[in-house]
Amino acid sequence: MAPQTVLITGCSSGIGLATALVLAKDELSRFKVYATMRNLKSKSNLEKEAGDTLNKTLFIRELDVTKDPTIKSVVDGILGESGRIDVLINNAGYMSLDAIDQRSLEWCQAMMDTNYWGVVRTTNAVLPAMKKQMSGRIINVSSMAGVRAVPFYATYSAAKFAVEGFSESIAPVLRDGYNIRVSIVEPGPVKTELFNKVLGTPFEEQAKDFDPVLREVFLTNVKRMMTSAMLSVTQSADEIAKLHMDIILSEKPHLRYQTTENLTKAAAEKLRDPTTDFLLEMLEQAQDRYSAK
Ligand SMILES: *[C@@H]1O[C@H](CO)[C@@H](O)[C@H](O)[C@H]1NC(C)=O
Ligand SMILES: *[C@@H]1O[C@H](CO)[C@@H](O)[C@H](O)[C@H]1NC(C)=O
Ligand SMILES: *[C@@H]1O[C@H](CO)[C@@H](O)[C@H](O)[C@H]1NC(C)=O
Repeated sequence: MAPQTVLITGCSSGIGLATALVLAKDELSRFKVYATMRNLKSKSNLEKEAGDTLNKTLFIRELDVTKDPTIKSVVDGILGESGRIDVLINNAGYMSLDAIDQRSLEWCQAMMDTNYWGVVRTTNAVLPAMKKQMSGRIINVSSMAGVRAVPFYATYSAAKFAVEGFSESIAPVLRDGYNIRVSIVEPGPVKTELFNKVLGTPFEEQAKDFDPVLREVFLTNVKRMMTSAMLSVTQSADEIAKLHMDIILSEKPHLRYQTTENLTKAAAEKLRDPTTDFLLEMLEQAQDRYSAK
């Protein structure tokens, strides 16, 4: 059987890089992987780890999910070389702190442009080919933050909610109309450069532009949020990569996948309490101090 052609965004590091490698190194050679990234200058890690799969089952291309021409050029190139696109993995994105009104609108729109509109642009670019084939798989890498918003990550959570809503809406339509299966993957914290960058920057510095009240709430809570609960369940990018392969190979993929049992419980918790009042208890009782003032 001809290998499946897979396009992945955001492959310079983390989940994208791990997924590209797991698929390209598949012992049964079931995949031909186009691993893309915003800037080829950051290709060295992937290139090194690709070893002799480079230019055999793994091809590196430049694609910026905020720039339509780069998406079109990669998609046209793949269709020219391989004649089809079987799988799209929308992985590109970044995570950064923003508390409510502490960032400019331009800053928020730029994150939305990559983390949400980037997914829409890339999906729209591959859909004509998938519709013609009457087959295809689209996997959107979301986050537990797309199910339960994370305090102090307002725009990041909003972008993931948007991806979740759009995916949920379009999934039954694409399945029934075109045999295109769509899945959303919802990891928690994953050991990646992105995550290390967040942890590596002192919290005081991250919050230096916040107003005094928000800064205090943030500093009171962030260590607990980032270390105990979250870090104890940190997964490796490889685990997520293997899940991506399972989804591609599964005959009837689910719409949603949480990546650990605890995350499944966390997702279920939200459905069990439709008031979701429990989400208001996520922060330590900093507000007691304010009301006491
Ligand atoms: C792989 O292909 C690219 C062009 O697509 C080329 O620049 C590079 O030298 C090739 N690398 C190897 C190891 O063949
Ligand atoms: C992924 O998200 C995009 C935009 O939100 C949407 O167009 C697409 O259908 C989604 N795909 C899946 C598989 O959920
Ligand atoms: C799941 O959560 C429980 C408590 O909430 C914790 O004790 C356990 O270590 C977690 N399991 C994993 C695999 O992280």
